[in-house]
Amino acid sequence: MTVNDRAVRADVQMARRELYPYSGIETEGLLSPDEQTVIAVVGRKHSGKSKLVRHIAASYPYDQIIIDYHGDDRPWQLDVERTPGMPYFWQINENEVPERWPEWKRPDEDDVAEVPMILYCQPDAGSSDVVGQMDELFKLAWLHTRCMVIVHEWGEQARVHRTPPYTRRVLNQGRNRQISLIMAMHRPRGVETNTFPQADLVAVFQVPIKGDRDLIADGIGWDRDDFSAGVNGLPPYGYLLYDRRLPPPVEGAPDRRLLEYPPLTPDELAEIDPEIKPMKTM
Ligand SMILES: Nc1ncnc2c1ncn2[C@@H]1O[C@H](COP(=O)(O)OP(=O)(O)OP(=O)(O)O)[C@@H](O)[C@H]1O
Ligand SMILES: [Mg+2]
Repeated sequence: MTVNDRAVRADVQMARRELYPYSGIETEGLLSPDEQTVIAVVGRKHSGKSKLVRHIAASYPYDQIIIDYHGDDRPWQLDVERTPGMPYFWQINENEVPERWPEWKRPDEDDVAEVPMILYCQPDAGSSDVVGQMDELFKLAWLHTRCMVIVHEWGEQARVHRTPPYTRRVLNQGRNRQISLIMAMHRPRGVETNTFPQADLVAVFQVPIKGDRDLIADGIGWDRDDFSAGVNGLPPYGYLLYDRRLPPPVEGAPDRRLLEYPPLTPDELAEIDPEIKPMKTM
């Protein structure tokens, strides 16, 4: 089959809406939080990557670390008073990464066994060792185990031959430690070579440069022309999703490993960034 097989697309879109209306990544149990899931998200600027990343992350029930190189993805929850029972967001400075997971910060509530804690860092791009400082956050995740690390601009953190040790460890060896990883990037070129081989899921938004599409196609082992046709046929904010964990189809069956997904809906977007935010109380 090709990625432009409309029948398969319609079928999966239907399944997505009916079976998993609220979860992030759906179909056939794609994000199981107790196992490591490595997700690469690629697309040109403003193609919708971060919204999808946040949509996926919203369905993850354990602790998270968000590394936001460009400062575009600050969670609104940081600026309002927390509703009891909801995840606890904490902004940390790149110079003050704790050595151990800051359990002492976790809200202590009688009726909530465990509230996810979400650490957000927007590093100072002018810092001389920003990649090393962010590697401290990967170390924190490594020691903490079972959590998710989200990097908005993987290309800043994991350059080929220059990926720092804990970032590399989490990518390559995070499975036993149940550390999931979402890597959002503009371009696949120049990033750590294990990025695509390690990814369980690859979400691809609009990618205008053919060489970039070819790199991704090669990374997932898909026919280049077929892949390019799929990407070029995407509507704004639509994406292809490749699932490496699905087995190749038996003869005659459709290949569901690479499917086109529609853009997130206005309702889904509103869940990520509600327009009416609670007032901050001091
Ligand atoms: N499904 C969608 N429907 C309508 N608008 C969308 C959708 N997804 C994203 N957008 C719009 O596009 C803008 C950019 O989206 P987003 O921040 O997710 O892109 P990005 O690929 O992460 O961009 P960057 O490369 O700058 O990080 C959003 O602020 C939003 O206004
Ligand atoms: Mg983004």
